[in-house]
Amino acid sequence: MVGRARRRVRADRAIYQGAGFGAGNSTCPRRSQSLDGCAVVRWRTGTDRQRRLGADRAERATVFTEAQPAAFHDESRHRCRVAAFADAARHALTAGFEVVELHAAHGYLLHEFLSPLSNQRTDVYGGSLENRMRLPLEVARTVRAIWPAHLPLFVRISATDWVEGGWDLKQSIEFCRQLKTIGVDLIDCSSAALVPDAKVPAGPGFQVPFAQAIRKEVGIATGAVGFITEAFQAEQIIATGQADAVLLARELLRDPYWPLHAAQKLGASIDYWPKQYLRAKP
Ligand SMILES: Cc1cc2nc3c(=O)[nH]c(=O)nc-3n(C[C@H](O)[C@H](O)[C@H](O)COP(=O)(O)O)c2cc1C
Repeated sequence: MVGRARRRVRADRAIYQGAGFGAGNSTCPRRSQSLDGCAVVRWRTGTDRQRRLGADRAERATVFTEAQPAAFHDESRHRCRVAAFADAARHALTAGFEVVELHAAHGYLLHEFLSPLSNQRTDVYGGSLENRMRLPLEVARTVRAIWPAHLPLFVRISATDWVEGGWDLKQSIEFCRQLKTIGVDLIDCSSAALVPDAKVPAGPGFQVPFAQAIRKEVGIATGAVGFITEAFQAEQIIATGQADAVLLARELLRDPYWPLHAAQKLGASIDYWPKQYLRAKP
């Protein structure tokens, strides 16, 4: 919930959520950064975040009322932000990861820049679609230059804010066209989580049409996510060309062996059973 509160801090405000990669776990600590983009202010753990909720509300009010947004005309601050993403990509590579996903969804910093609901800037990073996409595209370009060409780079987007006048599929398609020219390999098509009053019609496969439209319009690989729980449902999404991959979260928490069970249901033979478990293979 604190994460949500912090997401309401807009792209032109003094404190924002730090550079983030991947669809991580929301219970992970989040890094906060001051406007200079480099100074790590604090890390929050789950309990710490709960405790801070009340304080955060007060902080948010302060952030919204104090008139010191300081749009980054200062080039060094701007470079620092992009450099934070570049550093994260380098660290991921050093740690041995083989896929990096740039997070431009769910109210994280890059989403805040994209959406007209959160981006109130008056400099070259705000206003027109071209301007709002500028920072996310700079970050994608920088990360692509660092991340080896033979390793996939994904970008997670919120394909729509589900709010009139907000970020939407049309803008997402244009954004993804540009990401494709940069060399991004796959768009992970989620939605929402920028503002609390969005009316999200959540249900089985409700975000699949975004993956399908972006795949068709842009000609880039897409991943479908959200309420995908059944093997045949997942198979149909891939087989009918709605997406190139399915991404699961909660169902994998319920059943960590979901891929093995799905393979069994679909009659597929897979060779990545854990060695220790082979004797239990059906
Ligand atoms: C415990 C939990 C933590 C999550 N944390 C994040 C996160 O940090 N970043 C993110 O983009 N999505 C996060 N998600 C959302 C999932 O990545 C996914 O988009 C969402 O749960 C919908 O997919 P599902 O219906 O298969 O769960 C989280 C989901 C769960 C259940």
